[in-house]
Amino acid sequence: MSVNFMRNKILVTGGAGYIGSHTCIALHEAGYDMVVYDNLSNSSREAINRVSTLIGQNIEFVEGDIRDIEALRQVFSSHQFFGVIHFAGLKAVGESVAKPLLYYNNNVIGTIDLLEVMAEYDVKNLVFSSSATVYGDPENLPIDENSPRSCTNPYGQSKLTVEHILEDLVTSDSSWNLIPLRYFNPVGAHSSGQIGEDPNDIPNNLMPYISQVAVGKLEKLSIFGNDYPTIDGTGVRDFIHVTDLAQGHVSALNYLERRTSSTNPSDMKKSVGFLPINLGTGKGTSVLELVNAFTEVTGRDIPYQFTDRRAGDIASCYASADKAKVLLGWQAKLSVNDMCKDTWYWQSMNPSGYKVS
Ligand code: NAD
Ligand code: UFG
Repeated sequence: MSVNFMRNKILVTGGAGYIGSHTCIALHEAGYDMVVYDNLSNSSREAINRVSTLIGQNIEFVEGDIRDIEALRQVFSSHQFFGVIHFAGLKAVGESVAKPLLYYNNNVIGTIDLLEVMAEYDVKNLVFSSSATVYGDPENLPIDENSPRSCTNPYGQSKLTVEHILEDLVTSDSSWNLIPLRYFNPVGAHSSGQIGEDPNDIPNNLMPYISQVAVGKLEKLSIFGNDYPTIDGTGVRDFIHVTDLAQGHVSALNYLERRTSSTNPSDMKKSVGFLPINLGTGKGTSVLELVNAFTEVTGRDIPYQFTDRRAGDIASCYASADKAKVLLGWQAKLSVNDMCKDTWYWQSMNPSGYKVS
């Protein structure tokens, strides 16, 4: 008997990027069909080529900007989407301080443009890349989704502003189903070593910096502060493997499908509304613990020095991951050692990232 099984089609904005490319693989494995829409401002076509090779099928890719409403309309008029996973955005905190208008334009206006086109085509299911940065300096740990929100830089403000816009949208029209996923610290790479994080210039974030020291591209890691009130004085974060994170998006989509397709009145309420969910492991790891784990797993020495704290950094940040577990049935599976192993495999196989060295 042949089963005609076709899952819903998803528009993936920013799908050529770090988290988006991993999510495309998870979507394919879960049986979803997808179209990737990306302006390649912080990614390369090569990532899409490699994902296509990994899944054994060409991904439909449209090069375009989310602020180009006509181009978006064309995509929406040629496909029937169940929903959108919206990764497209700029993400460098320091750059956002130097170029706030760029960040608000790209991340906030771009999202408004996308939402307007979604409304035109009556596509009202959205999974949005939010961030733990919306919690600012948390009062309590672990951080749950009801914690107060505040931001200190334009990047964080752009995420928080989009969250407020999504809340207002649901208030105006309860048929929207909007899930902002608040990521903690995504690291790692696909276990194939074919796709991973490929920062432009010198990395700002810890894990890519460590791996570039390990591969010999950078001389030494600076650890920003060893006088925080933490286990060893260095900052504590909730590092989460990008493969687990990708799976979290599939679980969020599954949830949206279940909620929006239920015909049984005694089932869950139909509209999801605005439903923020943390994606983290629930465990904090210090900077020094991560450096030591990397050395232990890879056998590479990571020379480091302690320097002053980095402006704007907080001491500790880790998630309460209960809501994701209860509502989505999702929890992170991979360990800090897996994160180090897969980062190193990607970095050592691709010392120049997607660029030909
Ligand atoms: P990334 O830069 O690798 O991916 C973002 C993608 O969006 C890139 O491919 C870029 O070319 C594309 N893009 C940017 N602006 C666009 C526009 N106007 N139109 C079309 N495409 C555009 O970043 P990532 O790490 O994969 O992050 C994905 C999302 O998750 C971002 O919104 C980011 O802010 C958010 N996020 C990331 C982290 C993290 O640490 N990586 C943490 C929390 C939240
Ligand atoms: N760190 C160093 N040396 C470095 C880089 C980082 O010691 O070279 C330390 C930082 O001081 C911090 C920890 O490593 O204690 C993690 O820093 P990252 O820059 O890797 O990550 P952040 O927690 O500062 O921020 C990241 C993303 C933000 C996102 C946030 C929450 O960069 O965009 O996680 O998801 F909002």
